[in-house]
Amino acid sequence: MTKTPNTIKHVASPLARQTLLDKDLTRPVAGRRPVRILPWLQVVKIGGRSIMDRGHEAILPIVEEIRKLLPEHRLLILTGAGIRARHLYGVGLDLGLPVGSLAPLAASEAGQNGHILASLLAPEGVSYVEHPTIASQLAIHLSAARAVVGSAFPPYHHHEFPNSRIPTHRADTGAFLLADALGAAGLTIVEDVDGVYDRDPNGAEGKKAKLIGETTAAELAKNLAKSKGTSPFDPALLEVMATARHLEHVQIVNGLKAGRLTAALRGEHVGTIIRTGASKA
Ligand SMILES: Nc1ncnc2c1ncn2[C@@H]1O[C@H](COP(=O)(O)OP(=O)(O)O)[C@@H](O)[C@H]1O
Ligand SMILES: [Mg+2]
Repeated sequence: MTKTPNTIKHVASPLARQTLLDKDLTRPVAGRRPVRILPWLQVVKIGGRSIMDRGHEAILPIVEEIRKLLPEHRLLILTGAGIRARHLYGVGLDLGLPVGSLAPLAASEAGQNGHILASLLAPEGVSYVEHPTIASQLAIHLSAARAVVGSAFPPYHHHEFPNSRIPTHRADTGAFLLADALGAAGLTIVEDVDGVYDRDPNGAEGKKAKLIGETTAAELAKNLAKSKGTSPFDPALLEVMATARHLEHVQIVNGLKAGRLTAALRGEHVGTIIRTGASKA
């Protein structure tokens, strides 16, 4: 009998012999902080209902402000969904569509809002890019232009968690997931209110509402659960902030007030700062 030499090459992997379910075993390999892919990037999320639905009165001043910011920052501008998504939810829910069918419908409105914004910024070289381009070619686009626009909706689509009939992961969650995964320098969420209040400033008891200058995601989640209160962002944002790897905070600012976005991008405190658990190191 001839002896066959063992020529099989073993692929060395620190995880080769481990179950991926045991955190104590995976931590030495998987517990390290990921690299920052675009550490100079500023991500700006523009509200669908709060800004885009207001038409030219709100959009044109923001476009002008962004135009002036371009020499100073390289931006990923992400747009949310507004009134058209609410109409789609209404029709879809009436027809009994599952949440996985509703999510892409709403996301398509976020994309439409992005196309509108990108058209207005086109003279500055800004264009709308789809998610696969954001995933793999953002760096080259931002080498050619100072900013690009995309949809803030995360593409959970037919994988959307069925824990609610309305998609749980919406534009604020998507913007945060993307900004943190890219290791961006910051995320600013642009709304039509000065920040997060202890209750809806436009609600029945709006006159009593007090602005929260600074808080943590954990504290805000606890207070919202206790008061059954509302927020100007999708609640899943606070869940994903709990596991942030890079972003130390987000700031929510009023886009209807000239200069607030500019100040926020310069690191000034002009809205509500919500801190994550991530630290600088
Ligand atoms: N605790 C809160 N603090 C601030 N705004 C709130 C709060 N609860 C509800 N809101 C409301 O959220 C509105 C913004 O709506 P939202 O659905 O977040 O818009 P967008 O789709 O643009 O993100 C504000 O105009 C405000 O009336
Ligand atoms: Mg909002």
